[in-house]
Amino acid sequence: MSLTTPAARRDLSFHLHPSTNLRSVQAEGPLVITRGEGVYVYDDEGKRYLEGMAGLWCASLGFSERRLAEAAYRQMCELPFYHSFGGKVPAISTELAERLIGIAPAGMGKALFANSGSEANDTAIKLAWYVNNALGRPQKKKIISRQRAYHGVTIASGSLTGLAFAHNDFDLPIARFLHTDCPSHYRGAQPGESEEAYAARIAANLEQLIVREGPDTIAAFFAEPVMGAGGVVVPPATYFDRVQPILRKYDILFVVDEVICGFGRTGQMFGSQTFDLQPDIITVAKALSAGYLPISANLVSGKLYEIILTQSDKLGIFGHGYTYSSHPVPAAVALETLKLYEELDILAQVRRVGPRMQTGIRSFADHPLIGEARGIGLIGAVEIVRDKTTKQSFDPKAAVAAFLVRRAQHHGVILRSMPGDIVAFCPPLIIGETEIDEMMAGFGKALDDTAAMVREKGLA
Ligand SMILES: Cc1ncc(COP(=O)(O)O)c(C=O)c1O
Repeated sequence: MSLTTPAARRDLSFHLHPSTNLRSVQAEGPLVITRGEGVYVYDDEGKRYLEGMAGLWCASLGFSERRLAEAAYRQMCELPFYHSFGGKVPAISTELAERLIGIAPAGMGKALFANSGSEANDTAIKLAWYVNNALGRPQKKKIISRQRAYHGVTIASGSLTGLAFAHNDFDLPIARFLHTDCPSHYRGAQPGESEEAYAARIAANLEQLIVREGPDTIAAFFAEPVMGAGGVVVPPATYFDRVQPILRKYDILFVVDEVICGFGRTGQMFGSQTFDLQPDIITVAKALSAGYLPISANLVSGKLYEIILTQSDKLGIFGHGYTYSSHPVPAAVALETLKLYEELDILAQVRRVGPRMQTGIRSFADHPLIGEARGIGLIGAVEIVRDKTTKQSFDPKAAVAAFLVRRAQHHGVILRSMPGDIVAFCPPLIIGETEIDEMMAGFGKALDDTAAMVREKGLA
């Protein structure tokens, strides 16, 4: 895009872009999106793009679901704001809580709402601390997450995140946050090590970390079922089967971050079901409202709720919540989203088209630049390497995956590059098979362009 466009001029005035290379957006101008239709979005010059990332892993029902717009409008007319402090609650929010608990994995008893994934994870940390104070264990406060995890960017959720870009010069992580191995078999396994042996080894590392720190100092372990923004890492076979008994052994809460995996992405309603997880707390956001309005939630186990209840008796109040916890308008949109998932049988849809995307991604596995092609359901990624045999990466300064993503955009497909030269796919769940083919074709052209660039610049 040239700086002479109205959009670029507009942007140069006021917008500080989050999660962006600020210098390059200043030089090249932003991509200004003006409208959406199905799995497509359009820029301000009328060019159409297949949104292969559902925006930020969230627009599960695409970009033109009128029922969600109508639900928001109806709610705006009926009750545009109310809150849930001091024993009050908007009616629609109670309906949403009931429906959410109804579809949640067994054992979840209560829903506590917030506005974003980061806030939900912050809340989960606070709940873990609150519960351990309630249980008379004031030392049991450290939190373990994993390298390359993405749990958000607030001070606490950003500390959970295990990615340098979210820490550097923001003085994160803060004290009490520890990071254990990322479960990437491709990157972490020793030559010839099976998925199971690798899982056992990194689970043993987790146990060693717990023992070294002192089990009575560890409050909770956070994990995404499939890591998203850290590079779409699908856990190796038996990983969670190994990890969960360790958490139980040392009485460590298991917080499952379902912000991406929740609501069908992996082919089951929750990633917890795909990987047979027994969480104490689940955090959800994004596809909870198909991304149409900000809303997130903590689903808290009935067992944990009883402890919180007793502690609030003691203190006189459960002193947590946001002005917009339980906001009725996003709640109405979320409720309509959950109804649509049921009516559309979204799980059957993901299971029907997911294999086409997985086959498409894996059809590039033999390409000399592709180290690994992976995924599950409707989430996937390729990892670009300089040398397929040694798995050697390109110099990060060459920004090879970012180049590929720019070329995909040129070919009308929006994808996302991530640290480690990984390119992610996470389209709206409503995507059809021909649209998947179109997405893979756009990726293929971009990969050809990238291979040509690498040759021309002598990078490989
Ligand atoms: C797994 C996961 N958790 C938490 C978050 C943070 O959510 P938000 O950006 O709404 O704060 C994200 C965002 O991408 C995410 O992918």
